[in-house]
Amino acid sequence: YRRLRVALLGAGAVGSQVAALLLRHGDELADRAGATLELAGIAVRDLDAPRDADLPKELFTTDAETLILGSDIVIELMGGIEPARTYILQAINSGADVVTANKALLATYGSEIFDAADQVGASVYYEAAAAGAIPIIRPLRDSLAGDRVQRIMGIVNGTTNYILDRMDTEGAEFLDVLADAQALGYAEADPTADVEGFDAAQKAAILASLAFHTTVPLETVHREGITKIDKGMMDAARHAGYVIKLLAVCERLADGGAESISVRVYPALVNRDHPLASVHGANNAVFVQAEAAGNLMFYGAGAGGVQTASAVLGDVVSAARRHIAGGVGVGESTRANLPIVPVGHVVTRY
Ligand code: HSE
Repeated sequence: YRRLRVALLGAGAVGSQVAALLLRHGDELADRAGATLELAGIAVRDLDAPRDADLPKELFTTDAETLILGSDIVIELMGGIEPARTYILQAINSGADVVTANKALLATYGSEIFDAADQVGASVYYEAAAAGAIPIIRPLRDSLAGDRVQRIMGIVNGTTNYILDRMDTEGAEFLDVLADAQALGYAEADPTADVEGFDAAQKAAILASLAFHTTVPLETVHREGITKIDKGMMDAARHAGYVIKLLAVCERLADGGAESISVRVYPALVNRDHPLASVHGANNAVFVQAEAAGNLMFYGAGAGGVQTASAVLGDVVSAARRHIAGGVGVGESTRANLPIVPVGHVVTRY
């Protein structure tokens, strides 16, 4: 097989599992990719930080730039905007394909990154950027490319689903379960990103952009978190036959002949009979309504190191296949810009 050099940037919960799986299953992945995937190095800020997996010390470096320049595929799992943005642009401009799980970066600088990749014929893969292990990026971009998505309703934040689920099933209070959610390791470094809906809004912007083949800027996403939800509201919802879920709703609106879209994140009343009502714990689910396909639901682990590593490695295999095929094969979405309607609660019950 041809040898492809793979650079890993970041060795946190997801990154260390990606490295471990790549080393453990290298031969099998090589057969699937048609190329040997050589882990060329792992760039980290602190060489001595504790890791979730036992990885060879000699792979680690603090010199990300040199590592990037010698690589065919760059996996960015550092998170945050900088230096991740600079490194990804460097990777693209050096001819590498990029795999990233960085939802914050894609939701804010996605256009810049995709345009840079288009210019040099590189590809950016980001299956792990929304809903962790759940395959949802490819289904929206590829499998449903011949259909018209009408609406997406997603439970795309595990931390808030865990909190709301325990409030619903145990009658617990918000603050009492927040600490447990953080201890489980699903929460963002700053849990405000979870409970105020910022994390879900970033994922909603990514999913809506794919579903409607357009660019949805993060600032157009209506956002409300779950901090105002209390036991009384949960009880009232339950008595009325509903459960409160933090939903990311991405919807195509038709007003006569003119179409627009609405993207919003807020605690919604979900009927107990709806499939989304049975998503418990820190799981995620994305319910897609498409014109021809009808209703589809994608369900599974939306967070977690090894689970998210599955999505990252799928992208690495895709990137390798594309790389050895000479850069053909991955079409990005078209960019038909639809007007975005700044609305909040259009429909509050599902
Ligand atoms: N904090 C996120 C969550 C992690 O709770 O879903 C995965 O993006």
